Amino acid sequence: MAFCCQSPIKTVTIPQPKAFAKTKPLFRCNLSLPSRSPLTSTEPEPVYASVKAFAPATVANLGPGFDFLGCAVDGVGDFVSLSIDPHVHPGEIAISEITGDNAKKLSKNPLWNCAGIAAIEVMKMLGIRSVGLSLSLEKGLPLGSGLGSSAASAAAAAVAVNEIFGGKLGLEELVMAGLKSEEKVSGYHADNIAPAIMGGFVLISNYEPLEFVRLSFPEEKELLFVLASPEFEAPTKKMRAVLPLEIGMPHHVWNCSQAGALVAAVLQGDSAGLGKAVSADKIVEPRRAPLIPGMEAVKKAAIEAGAFGCTISGAGPTAVAVTDNAEKGKVIGERMVDAFLRDGNLKAAASVQRLDRTGARLIGSIPR
Ligand code: HSE
Repeated sequence: MAFCCQSPIKTVTIPQPKAFAKTKPLFRCNLSLPSRSPLTSTEPEPVYASVKAFAPATVANLGPGFDFLGCAVDGVGDFVSLSIDPHVHPGEIAISEITGDNAKKLSKNPLWNCAGIAAIEVMKMLGIRSVGLSLSLEKGLPLGSGLGSSAASAAAAAVAVNEIFGGKLGLEELVMAGLKSEEKVSGYHADNIAPAIMGGFVLISNYEPLEFVRLSFPEEKELLFVLASPEFEAPTKKMRAVLPLEIGMPHHVWNCSQAGALVAAVLQGDSAGLGKAVSADKIVEPRRAPLIPGMEAVKKAAIEAGAFGCTISGAGPTAVAVTDNAEKGKVIGERMVDAFLRDGNLKAAASVQRLDRTGARLIGSIPR
């Protein structure tokens, strides 16, 4: 049976995140859980004086998987450093520094910062009242890029707070904490935050209560994502506002069949099938692509250069193409960049990334 956090004050023994993830692929959480009720019976002591956590970029939707499918990609992401700080009021968190891309655009008020919101949620879940925390955020991901920038900050912060207090919470609580942050800053969707925390591909099978399943792409099979990011911002809230509220039966049947094919391709390690399904969304991509200058030409260029498929990453503007060959991936990326410039008049940069199978993790710690 999947772990279920239904009672607000029930004390449970929660295994460490990674071990839990390997044995229990399906997670359920009741989102009506009052976040102020701690999930642990006694306030945990800090285990470290400071920690540093990393969370990867994510590609959400993957075409027909709008709001229910996403995966983590390696190489890029956000970092959160966290310290026990006697100058911060016990039970509270302060954001001391934000560095990296567009850092000045982000609020240092923890209530209005993705990392701050997720950190506060984890503190509430743990019932932290006796120590104050100081958080520093290093943005590796550009804002509004379609690569799960807000989710990466939230995921790194959630993991950092959990780890500094000994890793008492499991993946499902960390996803819930991150989802609170996503809800406030970009919309109620877990297809970035779940893979940012868990790594690999994650299918959100239910939102009420929240349930998600990790889908395992076979290790021995090659899968590469070509990410072409133009110099253009596509705020998720704005890109969600253009979507239809209702769809017709033919589109429903088509997109469901493609999403099913996509899940099958992931489980079978079928990169070509995955690319084909990624390319096949008839509901969301057609509404968003016209708002991203050059996107239609970029998709065409990627496929002509040999990509198995191409779509918008998350809410855009990044375009994601699928291949199984690194050399080919480089060429596909160049063609996508050319197309953004030629048809969209946008400068863009491309990179070829693998799946990040680990998700958010601790990368450094100083004991107390
Ligand atoms: N599923 C979300 C959307 C992802 O497409 O709006 C945003 O990164």
